[in-house]
Amino acid sequence: MQVIKHIKELQPILAEKRREGLSIGFVPTMGALHKGHFSLVEKAGQESDFVMVSIFVNPTQFNDKKDLDRYPRDLQKDVDFLTSSPCQIIFAPEVDEVYPEPDTRQFNFGSLEQVMEGKFRLGHFNGVAQVVSRLFDIVLPDKAFFGQKDFQQLAIIRAMVTKLDLPVEIVSCPIIREPDGLAMSSRNMLLSPEQRKAAVCISSTLFEAANQTDKLSVEELCRWVTDRINENEYLETEYFEIVHETTLLPVKEWGDQGGKVGCVAVQCGQIRLIDNLYIVPKVN
Ligand code: PAJ
Repeated sequence: MQVIKHIKELQPILAEKRREGLSIGFVPTMGALHKGHFSLVEKAGQESDFVMVSIFVNPTQFNDKKDLDRYPRDLQKDVDFLTSSPCQIIFAPEVDEVYPEPDTRQFNFGSLEQVMEGKFRLGHFNGVAQVVSRLFDIVLPDKAFFGQKDFQQLAIIRAMVTKLDLPVEIVSCPIIREPDGLAMSSRNMLLSPEQRKAAVCISSTLFEAANQTDKLSVEELCRWVTDRINENEYLETEYFEIVHETTLLPVKEWGDQGGKVGCVAVQCGQIRLIDNLYIVPKVN
């Protein structure tokens, strides 16, 4: 496995792989890798001939400077972690390499970016679209792998690929959880032991909620989840919404057509955690 910092060094290697007829699978990350990331790399290994991972903490997607400053960074640890994975190249550029000039592009994702994360983290998805499209331009992957953990991000990236007509297939991968149910996240390592214990309440509440569709309306369930999480002294719910899986528009009734996903964002001290779960309404 090679660690590469410069585009000039990366592109000839990828061009050679393409000439050999190999398909390129790409996993973009911000590092501080855990088993959730690893599962994406494994999937990329199953579905492509040559796998590369990028590690880049993208400043343009952080609306909170403190969040950017405290984001965990340890390249050597990430490199060690990926040695037993199918990853063949780690691309770990500096900010100037990705953005030789400031990226001023403004994407418009309409209603997809006006809800949930888009509403609470202004400019976040514009930054995500900037960096992912830039990385796609550099790497020219055949397939790129993203986690359902960031459910709205997946919808935005699919929309971006359609909008820019990019020749890449987006592959969505399931959420990987800790044994107690907490969705794995690079931010979990920033939690104190007490906060870490409290954070389990987020996933356990989602799992319980999915079983209450015969007792509570959509609106009642939303309130129930919020109250339940907020009862925990370490947690404060920012939003809980049940949305349609493709449009991300709010579900009004359990009888509405299509897949339904409960999405939550919770502040745990200074740390913001997100999670989601597909909800299949019980038929009465
Ligand atoms: P990051 O948070 O590092 O996540 C990289 C990828 O790993 C994303 O596709 C994310 O959804 C996935 N992932 C994270 N935790 C996961 C889990 N528990 N189970 C499954 N997949 C998980 O998301 C980003 O970085 C950035 O926004 C990025 C797309 C790299 C653009 O900067």
